[in-house]
This record gives sequence, C-alpha cells and structure tokens, in this order.
Amino acid sequence: MAEREPIGVVGVGWVGLVTAACFAELGHRVHAVDIDAAKVEALRAGRPTIHEPGLDDLVERNRERLAFTTEIGEALDAARLLFCCVDTPPTHSGDADLSRVRAVVDRFRGDGGHALVMKSTVPAGTGAAIRRDVEGIAYVSCPEFLKEGSAIEDFMHPDRVVVGGDPGDGWASDAVAELYAPLGGEIVRTDVASAEMVKLASNAFLATKISFINEIANVCEEVGADVTEVARGMGLDERIGSSFLRAGIGYGGSCFPKDVSALKQLAGNTGYHFQLLTAVIEVNELQKRRVIGKLKEHLGPLAGKRVALLGLAFKPDTDDMREASSLVLAARLQGEGAIVAGYDPVARGRAADLLPGVELCGSAAEALEGAHAAILVTEWPEFAELDWAGVREAMAGPLIVDGRNFLDPRKVSAAGLVYEGIGRSEARAGAAVEAAQRGG
Ligand code: UDX
Repeated sequence: MAEREPIGVVGVGWVGLVTAACFAELGHRVHAVDIDAAKVEALRAGRPTIHEPGLDDLVERNRERLAFTTEIGEALDAARLLFCCVDTPPTHSGDADLSRVRAVVDRFRGDGGHALVMKSTVPAGTGAAIRRDVEGIAYVSCPEFLKEGSAIEDFMHPDRVVVGGDPGDGWASDAVAELYAPLGGEIVRTDVASAEMVKLASNAFLATKISFINEIANVCEEVGADVTEVARGMGLDERIGSSFLRAGIGYGGSCFPKDVSALKQLAGNTGYHFQLLTAVIEVNELQKRRVIGKLKEHLGPLAGKRVALLGLAFKPDTDDMREASSLVLAARLQGEGAIVAGYDPVARGRAADLLPGVELCGSAAEALEGAHAAILVTEWPEFAELDWAGVREAMAGPLIVDGRNFLDPRKVSAAGLVYEGIGRSEARAGAAVEAAQRGG
C-alpha cells in the first residue's frame, strides 16, 4: 500500500477513535491524542474504550499505523492535518461547551504549515472566530455524520463528505477532500459557516422527523390508526423517505438532544426564535413520559408495582446511555412509587451510576420476574426472541408496552399478554402485520 499522508486526531472518543481507526485502515499513519492517560494506555494495549461493532478488530488490525499519545506535539510533528474530535457537550444554557476545542486551538501551531480540521460539532461561526483569533491558522470544517452502532460502516460508506474551507486555506481543504476521495461518497465543497450549519441542520431535521412521527403516533392512538402503516405509506414518497420514521419513546443519545438545543440556542443568540425546534424538544420530552400514562391506564396507581425496563442504552448496538429514554422513564416510575428493574445486554457499567435505585438485572428473565408490566425501551434483537409464554408465567401482570414498535404483537398476545405499542393498538397492529405480510 502506497505511503499515505500521516494524520493527527485529537480527542479519542466515538468520533475520534472511529476516524483514527478508519484512516489507519485506509493506509494512513495516525497519531491519536487524548488527555486521558488511562484511555491512551488502554488503546496502546489494543483495548478500545467504547462498545462499537467491529472497532476492536479494526484497531487490532491497524495497530502498526495507530500511535496513541497524550502529547499533541507528537501529532503536530508528524502530520500537517490535525482532526479535532473533542466533545462539545451542552452547557446549562444549551450553548455548546467549546472549552475542549479552545484547549486544542491554544496548542495549535498557526504556522501556515498545519491545518485544523474540525470534526467536533460546533455552532456556526466557530471556524470564523478561531481564524480571527489564531493568526496563520489554516482551518477546515469537516463535520461527521456517523451513527453509533454502525459508525465504521457510516465512515467507510458516507452519503456525503462535507469539506468547508475559506479562501486562503485552499491547500488544506484540498488535502482533506483527497483523504476522503477513496471512499466514493459525494464531496460537498463549501464555505466553513455553511459546512458547520450542514451538520447542525441535518441532526435537527432528523430529530424533527422523529418528533413528527411521534406526534402522528399519538394521533393514531386517538383515531384507531397504526403508525407503522402510516409511516410505510408516507415513506414510499421519495420526498419523505422511510428512514427515521420509527415512532417510539423519543430520541436520545449524545448528538440529537445536544445539537437541537445548540441550534435553537445559536438562533436565539442572534435574536431569532426557532419555534419549530422548541416544539421538537418539547414533543420529545413528553414522548418519553407518555408511557407512564399507558401504565396507569392498565395498572392504576403505580406505587409498589414492579416495572421491568427492557433495554437501557439510547439505542441498540451501543453501551451509550447519554440522554437515553430509560433515564427519564426510571425516574418517572420511581417518582410514582414503582419498583424499577432494568436489563441491558451491553450498557451495564454506566447504568449503575446513571440509574440510582434501579434493580439492575443480569437477564431479561430476571427483570421480568414478578413484574406487573414491562416496557421495551431499546430494540435489542434478543427481546424479539423472548419466550412469551414463559414471560407470561414469570410476570405478575400481563402488560407489555413496546416503546419501539419492535415486537410482533400477535406473538405477544398469543401468549396471553397485553400488547401496547406506540401509535398502534394490539388489534390494529395484528391486522397491520398480516396486511404487510400479504404484501397489502
Ligand atoms: C445521530 C445521527 O444519526 C448521526 O448522523 C450523527 O452523526 C450523530 O447523531 P446517533 O446518535 O448515533 O446518530 O443515533 P441515531 O441512530 O441517529 O438515533 C438517535 C436517536 O433517535 C435514538 O434514540 C433512536 O432510538 C431514535 N430514533 C431513530 C427514533 O426514535 N426513530 C427513528 O426512526 C430513528
């Protein structure tokens, strides 16, 4: 493999580690920097610190081309392109916290020979401010669109790669575009501010789509329709598209909640009230809580009732619980006096800290034992394979709330359980499945 341009990566979290490992896989020597010495040590030993399908193998396979360090100087010595992948968590106001980005910029060499390639999600205008503050810095905005759980696939097969550069930094944005050329996705060359907005707007739009279908689901419940059928019919219109039309108990994760708030706040800082996003956020928060109403309809007061949460991570194939619906659900249930038991196949280590008072179980069966109701919170495949007759026997009550419309309602109800989906009633859901199978 021809020697490829060496690359520096700062911040070895989700985006940083996947970026580093994928570029190494493409033949680049990557110098990955993190301030967390324990994380660097683990990575040097070939032990990724996050659960991401395929990442362990990718890091192992490319160990020779991956150099992990706590010293940013080493990366700057070795590479002219430095990818900034540090966290930009929300502050209490909803603004993005740029302190970690600033720490990288402060160490950067504005010598014209290096370029800072921003992959962290930052408010529009950040690039312009950094270029103003650091003389001679070459700056490229190259936002990331990878999803947790399919990050490597998303990196290696991008729909598009956005490369934002301003006049004067041509060499840098050309070099970044060249890095991604082998991946074959469309390269969107644009200015820095527009590139920054592509990222925020894309995430905000996807979150809006989810809140929209969740509201449709709520109306479906009132009019006796099935949201999964509605989404099927809508999604065939290519102007709408079928992805991200899965109704459920709200979006979570490290990106959507934070980016929607950051964009709303960014607009607010300019004096513009972003009404749509205000509603998207409110709908999402209410959607996480609607399940409580369903439980009360069936069980009455929840005090002393045992409720099992099936899945704790914000989505399958990750151990990430940031802004997960399980957090709000558990707290609401405890607020109602319920006894909460939870099980997740992967999200264990973090659950104990994040879910005080919740009985963390080693299996779904353990969580379901004696439960008056169960809520499917994360659509892990193993939950679709549960022995429902056995579940009915183990539970103290028959109610299964399918918070992701993931289960087959007929299998659940055939076992004598009561199935409640989101925007789909048991009867309607059963009929809809049959219709879909008949190819209706
Ligand atoms: C998201 C974006 O998809 C990705 O492009 C960006 O780079 C980072 O943020 P991620 O947070 O990993 O990725 O998860 P994603 O798969 O987008 O799901 C986000 C949340 O939306 C999850 O809680 C998921 O359960 C929920 N969701 C997703 C729905 O409720 N319905 C859907 O149809 C899709």
